[in-house]
Amino acid sequence: MASKNQFITFNNGQKCPILGLGTWKSKPGEVEEAVSVAIDVGYRHIDCAMVYSNEKEVGKAIKQKLDEGVVKREDLFITSKLWNTFHQPDYVETVLKKTLSDLQIDYLDLYLIHWPMAYKEGKLDDELFPKDPEKGNNLIFEGSGSYTETWKAMEKLVEKGLIKSIGISNFSKKQTEDILNVATVKPVTNQVECHPYLNQKKLIEFSKQHNIVLTAYSPLGSPDRPWAKPEDPSILDDPKIVAIAKKYNKTAAQVLIRYQIQRGNIVIPKSVTKSRIESNFDIWDLTLEQGDIEDIDSFDCNGRVLHLNENSHFKDYPFHDEY
Ligand SMILES: NC(=O)c1ccc[n+]([C@@H]2O[C@H](COP(=O)([O-])OP(=O)(O)OC[C@H]3O[C@@H](n4cnc5c(N)ncnc54)[C@H](OP(=O)(O)O)[C@@H]3O)[C@@H](O)[C@H]2O)c1
Repeated sequence: MASKNQFITFNNGQKCPILGLGTWKSKPGEVEEAVSVAIDVGYRHIDCAMVYSNEKEVGKAIKQKLDEGVVKREDLFITSKLWNTFHQPDYVETVLKKTLSDLQIDYLDLYLIHWPMAYKEGKLDDELFPKDPEKGNNLIFEGSGSYTETWKAMEKLVEKGLIKSIGISNFSKKQTEDILNVATVKPVTNQVECHPYLNQKKLIEFSKQHNIVLTAYSPLGSPDRPWAKPEDPSILDDPKIVAIAKKYNKTAAQVLIRYQIQRGNIVIPKSVTKSRIESNFDIWDLTLEQGDIEDIDSFDCNGRVLHLNENSHFKDYPFHDEY
């Protein structure tokens, strides 16, 4: 089945559909249907992670669509992420194989180191957010891993054909440079929070210089993040975004998605609602004028919504760096 997708070409020649479906917070029981609807609508890129605890259900939808002949495996672009408790190099392949088994596929298009910080090293059945008994206050247990060593283990999985591309997520400029200094296989993308209140202009410029594409997560401001408060600002309801949407006869979400695409970023909005999954994909006929993009750029206010503050004392916490 043909799809209207547009593609971005990575530094290794691999093509990636520029718009994907996010799956964080998509509950088992909802996510299978969401992925199924998305593939029917034309999405070919699904963003997954072991820590979302729903890869088995995502896998069921993928298998069904492959079995129905709606898509072929090579038409899909499937991303997953290595969780913080699994940075130990000799365990990375075991963890990847669990994700592949849950997703019912035999290779990933993209595997990311989910965060630069390591949590206390664990095995597959262990707690994904291990607590530090020494601290006695429920704080997460920091691990001793080094992301550059983890990177070398990721590279081996590319050589083995288990992954087409590898990348990073939530890495600062300095941490990205650390990876580039040891990399034989270069990261293709850095997946980070990006929306008008945190437009990541400097990180995008730096990444482009190194042929690394930025993937924008929480592009709608992640209104369903578990710690959201009613008084928090909402990008989807921002009168300035709503006014721009009105001008083009589109929704605020469509403007926010198109904003990323026109800046050359991959974008992965999450939804489990059929009408939104459809309308978020109906953006190919929208072209924002340069003046509107510049206007939206000016809304930046360092408005990060995903801080992981409880890890802010960890040696590899990324958000103390300027960008
Ligand atoms: N690498 C990382 O550390 C990291 C961190 C965060 C996110 N991510 C990835 O990025 C994806 C997207 O980020 P996110 O889930 O944080 O947030 P998001 O995509 O910015 O927002 C998702 C929320 O927006 C709602 N929504 C979707 N389309 C809408 C529309 N057209 N109108 C109004 N509301 C709409 C969804 O509701 P319904 O679902 O109820 O429709 C959901 O509540 C994640 O799912 C995940 O795959 C990665």
